[in-house]
Amino acid sequence: MNRVYLDNSATTAVDPRVIEAMMPYFGERYGNASSLHSFGHEALEAVSIGRKQVATFLGATPKEVYFTAGGTESDNMALQGVAYARKEEGNHIITSSIEHPAVLETCAFLETVGFEVTYLPVDTTGRVLPSTLEAAMTERTTLVSIMHANNEIGTTQDIRDLARVAHDHGALFHTDAVQSAGKLPLDVESLGVDLLSLSGHKIHGPKGIGALYVREGTPIKPVVYGGGHERGLRSSTENVPGIVGVGMACELAHTYLDVDISLMNQMRDALIEGISDTIPQAVLNGHPTERLCNNVNMSFAGVEGEALILSLDRAGIAASTGSACSSKTSKASHVLLAIGLDQALALGSLRLTLSRMNTMEDIAYTIEKLPAMVARFRAMSPLWKEE
Ligand SMILES: Cc1ncc(COP(=O)(O)O)c(C=O)c1O
Repeated sequence: MNRVYLDNSATTAVDPRVIEAMMPYFGERYGNASSLHSFGHEALEAVSIGRKQVATFLGATPKEVYFTAGGTESDNMALQGVAYARKEEGNHIITSSIEHPAVLETCAFLETVGFEVTYLPVDTTGRVLPSTLEAAMTERTTLVSIMHANNEIGTTQDIRDLARVAHDHGALFHTDAVQSAGKLPLDVESLGVDLLSLSGHKIHGPKGIGALYVREGTPIKPVVYGGGHERGLRSSTENVPGIVGVGMACELAHTYLDVDISLMNQMRDALIEGISDTIPQAVLNGHPTERLCNNVNMSFAGVEGEALILSLDRAGIAASTGSACSSKTSKASHVLLAIGLDQALALGSLRLTLSRMNTMEDIAYTIEKLPAMVARFRAMSPLWKEE
């Protein structure tokens, strides 16, 4: 049976070159980067190469890069760190209603300890309008956090314009670039951001490692206290193999960015076209053009997304749905509801996300299998009416 992996926004395969670079640091080069002997020097050298690779990828300087345990921790560090550091200047934070839970739940926590959070609405394509942000800014706003690209619908934001609005009002700007890394150019100067979150496992690197870019001079407090690693901002012995891995993943993403984007663009467009041509009333969620090169998110009326995922899995195709499932309830995605989908259509969504490791054969196989599955579910659905 074919095995086709189209869930690259959940995680990606680790690139063999990344594995090769990491291996020695699980074996003979096991030193602690803080140790004074040669084992320590070897580890420290590896950490500083990894930091340079991440910095080059972002157009930053190495001292502006802090390693974390992943995208979630980077988001927590950015939001909590700046909120507390600027507490005397104001207690207002602005974010969007379609952020990842790593941001939304951190904001919910900050609300319990005296901060006020505004959750900006988005338009029907998932875009945050700079004018909406402008209207929400207050004298007490210290931080704005808006994701570069959405993990469910792939809509990308004009970060430069949004950051300018924040700066005009004296606020700092953070962006979660976990999904845009490797799919859009990420230059902190042209984006104009003060903080930016990255995660290793979304860019063919290992899990459990991420980075936070913090522009030099940005006020920020640690959320993890201890031995003072990462210049006091994130204590804990450095994850040397992880740092080597995320460094190499960034280097590869940087080197092959244009080739990768054009390959994924082609596959994405073929997938959207193939599905639209073969499945009646397939609706593309998100922005038609301002979207990630690797994201296809479509809703099929009369179909239950989770049942479709299981059916696809039986055909060897790994995909995901926008709805989160707990044992008793199927909850529609907050992102799909925020762009105006009704509950039923939100529960009938399918997310197919690509990477540079996919092929046109994967796309053809998916287009071959999907229409019959959708037709079968619709034939059984009392809700389905062909228009
Ligand atoms: C936009 C976004 N932010 C943050 C995260 C969390 O990253 P990590 O899994 O590295 O904690 C994810 C992961 O799905 C994501 O898509």
